[in-house]
Amino acid sequence: MSYPYQIRSFDEYQVAYRVSVNEPEQFWASVANNFYWRKKWDKVLEWNFKEPNVKWFQGAQLNITENCIDRHLKELGDKPAIIWEPNNPEDRTRIVTYNRLHKRVCQVAQMLKNNGVKKGDRVCIYMGMVPELAYAVLGCARIGAVHSVIFGGFSAQSIADRLEDAQAEYIITCDGAFRGGKDIPLKSVIDDALVGNKKIKRVIVYTRTRTPVSMIKGRDVWWEEEMEHAETQVEKDGAVSFPAEVMDAEDPLFILYTSGSTGKPKGVVHTVAGYMIWTTYTFVNTFQYKPGDIYFCTADIGWITGHSYIVYGPLCAGATSMMFEGIPTWPDAGRFWDIVDKYKVNILYTAPTAIRSLMGFGLEPVKGKDLSSLKVLGTVGEPINEEAWHWYDENIGKKKCPIVDTWWQTETSGIMISNLAGITPAIPSWASLPLPGVQPVLVDENGNHLPEPKEGEIVSGNLCMKAPWPGIIRTTYGDHERCRKNYFATYENLYFTGDGALKDAKGNYRITGRVDDVLNVSGHRIGTAEVENAINMHAGVVESAVVGYPHDIKGQGIYAYIIFNGKHGDDELTRKDILQTVSRIIGPIAKPDKIQFVPGLPKTRSGKIMRRILRKIAEGETSNLGDITTLLDPAVVDQIKNNRV
Ligand code: WT7
Repeated sequence: MSYPYQIRSFDEYQVAYRVSVNEPEQFWASVANNFYWRKKWDKVLEWNFKEPNVKWFQGAQLNITENCIDRHLKELGDKPAIIWEPNNPEDRTRIVTYNRLHKRVCQVAQMLKNNGVKKGDRVCIYMGMVPELAYAVLGCARIGAVHSVIFGGFSAQSIADRLEDAQAEYIITCDGAFRGGKDIPLKSVIDDALVGNKKIKRVIVYTRTRTPVSMIKGRDVWWEEEMEHAETQVEKDGAVSFPAEVMDAEDPLFILYTSGSTGKPKGVVHTVAGYMIWTTYTFVNTFQYKPGDIYFCTADIGWITGHSYIVYGPLCAGATSMMFEGIPTWPDAGRFWDIVDKYKVNILYTAPTAIRSLMGFGLEPVKGKDLSSLKVLGTVGEPINEEAWHWYDENIGKKKCPIVDTWWQTETSGIMISNLAGITPAIPSWASLPLPGVQPVLVDENGNHLPEPKEGEIVSGNLCMKAPWPGIIRTTYGDHERCRKNYFATYENLYFTGDGALKDAKGNYRITGRVDDVLNVSGHRIGTAEVENAINMHAGVVESAVVGYPHDIKGQGIYAYIIFNGKHGDDELTRKDILQTVSRIIGPIAKPDKIQFVPGLPKTRSGKIMRRILRKIAEGETSNLGDITTLLDPAVVDQIKNNRV
């Protein structure tokens, strides 16, 4: 594998950036020429942000799995595509070569076909981090089914909502998943999600934990049995084949649900060709991947980071991508460093929250671990504070590894603003420069473009994009209007990210965080409205307001103010009940860190909750609350202030 589009110097970056802005069609066509197409495009780009309507590589035909797997077989067939590290370090590692991956993905495709799955059908995947999860994702892509992976931490209710929204008919799951000392009963959660569901035709269950499960006749089948049957179908005379479905460039590849400022998560849709080009291009350039490098992204495939930078981007580049089943702190806080040492990892991509949590264990877990294989470090998911950045740089990278701080979103599908490892300068806590194809603009509240900062100046505004890149969100599943309203209607002719940012005179960006009612808890996106809806389901709750506050490890914590009317025997018990409710409705990741019972909420005369005040109190700021004279009942603020938790 070689990457003619790999940027190798700062000058090359500047040239690439300039061409990508001035002649985007020519630029992306020349990148796309390095991929495998069944038929090339008639037109590189057509777009407007009004509807929005964005089409890349119209007329082209391809299958992304032929790019991720088949085209590598001749050169890389015996090289590892996926290296899997199990939850328990004493268990057997699995090394999946490109040949083996090809065989497994063909088998899954055949298995899906045998079970009635066709192009365009939605398949929900709810599994732990086992290689079979990657096979399942790629198997769907091979037959043109639209996968929708749901993170293993979401509750039955969340799954039910997503199944309904996606109109899914098929599910692939596991009996259970190992995560640290825990064994999570995934199939039983699926069973709860399916009570009353009449649409699901088939549930395929992979055995991982041997947790007892109930299999429903006519609906549930075992992965192992189905795969065995499929194996004889795809393998003839020692050769393996399952023809890849020929997809149009703009056919949907997957749906991934993410939180917004309303109570209901949105199904972000990405399409085949643009997504492929964007994830591969950004993977190769940001991390400066060189053939043979061992690359380890610690994310879960249930999130966009896992989709783009464990599965599609790396595999399309013919890379060796590690998959880790467990958690960073089990059996102890040295687990990441053990893995780096054991496999001689060259590139490590993780989240600031993980770094901060590991920092808390001191240097003992790092001692004696050989980290000399590391060349590049990366972070993603939230702003990285300088302290964590320096800890990562000094103790993990030993000041020899560039750190890429990659800013992007589920909706952008791949990295948008980041330094390129060793090519463009790293600035602690700044995501820095836009990748080629990315055209950020900062606007004020009214959508006015901010003036370019002069030397020594820094401007601050809302971060938007003024032109499409290949991996931009195409729609929100089943509701295009929602996509328009959410991202393309706030400011005319701009895609609005929901983030605030600073910009300096050199063109560097520093992301300051969400400016909407979306929280970022341990790098996971959670809408305040979603959490409020869940809390309000509790029979004793009259009303609630949820805000974020700075949290040492999670980045943001969840602070809930609740008016409680139910039987108030014991505050602690009531708190537990409410946490249990949130766990049931959304999942444990959305549980508030702090709950304060309040007699009322600060509201304006028109009934709007003044979140600004609640945010300040949650942050510990009690003296400088700004103007509260417009409140209906200013006295309530004192009561809230005096009873902070
Ligand atoms: C939001 C997107 C990107 C994949 C994982 C999260 C925040 C992400 C950074 C960064 C500052 C960041 C933004 C963004 N964010 N990366 N490097 N610096 N903030 O994807 O769940 O779609 O969340 O995460 O606020 O909007 P997501």
